[in-house]
Amino acid sequence: MTGFDEGSMAFDYARYLAAKTTVDDRALNRHVLAGLRRLVPAGAPRVLEVGAGLGTMVARLVDWGVIGAGEYVLLDADRQLLDRSRRWLCDWAAARGLRSDPLPDGLQVGDLRVRLVHAELGGYLEAAQPELADVLIANAVLDLVDVPAVLPGLLRLLVPGGVYWFTINYDGESIFVPGHPHDDQVMQAYHRDMDERVRYGRPAGDSRTGRRLFGYLRDAGAPALAAGSSDWVVSAGPDGNYPDDEAYFVRCILNTIQNALRSREDRVDPADLADWLAVRGRQLAAGELVYLAHQLDFTGRASG
Ligand SMILES: C[S@@+](CC[C@H](N)C(=O)[O-])C[C@H]1O[C@@H](n2cnc3c(N)ncnc32)[C@H](O)[C@@H]1O
Repeated sequence: MTGFDEGSMAFDYARYLAAKTTVDDRALNRHVLAGLRRLVPAGAPRVLEVGAGLGTMVARLVDWGVIGAGEYVLLDADRQLLDRSRRWLCDWAAARGLRSDPLPDGLQVGDLRVRLVHAELGGYLEAAQPELADVLIANAVLDLVDVPAVLPGLLRLLVPGGVYWFTINYDGESIFVPGHPHDDQVMQAYHRDMDERVRYGRPAGDSRTGRRLFGYLRDAGAPALAAGSSDWVVSAGPDGNYPDDEAYFVRCILNTIQNALRSREDRVDPADLADWLAVRGRQLAAGELVYLAHQLDFTGRASG
């Protein structure tokens, strides 16, 4: 589930985001991505990514040949994460033989200037008189904010007719295989926690963001031009090992559920939760646990 709340975690969030990269690589909807490729202006566009985290998306878009020049702004409320993104992006560039040079506010990677902006989105939208972007990206983020409140301001960050790509929007379904008798109870309680969450003094989550975005985008005058599912599917290979660092990724998902529900004894009996987590942990260690999360991607244009 992307409505992943780092506020209560006791583990390495940057490692979680790095581990998520290969999961997202598989999940991102290729039909929607093809739509994005058609819409992105040629040349050196100005891209703004909100809730950019470690910056794995800018690396992906360079790797996938979607973006190669211009300016790419990584905006995030987590300063430590932005600090770590410098190192992560330098290592990624070095591994590809790309030259990277530090800049006062980010780094230059080939013809792409990457800028790091530390800001909370709601406050940024209220305060900013920003340079407008040609492309606006939010990956695994919109299910962490109050979309109806935030979306009109977000779209105003785009030039008229500018392009948005909103991806990995959680949509109310997480499945762990094999099934467990407490699955429904645990997931209903977790979804309720997402729906009630408050961060930075604002409502911060909706477990059905994906399906609701169709209407939100239409109401904001920016209906989707392409939409499709971007489900996470994580399973071990025939040797029982999960690819790359994906066992850690699933471990973080389990920890997130645990953190969200440990003080919700009214919703899930602590013994039931402990049993569910213990079984899931053993299945993960044995390479037997499959994790699926339903999500949706969208691309389109702001009104012209
Ligand atoms: C699930 S992570 C996704 C990070 C990155 N987009 C990715 O997919 O790897 C969500 C990110 O959004 C940031 N975030 C959450 N709420 C935010 C807000 N209100 N303003 C700015 N950033 C926010 C978090 O700090 C975190 O880095």
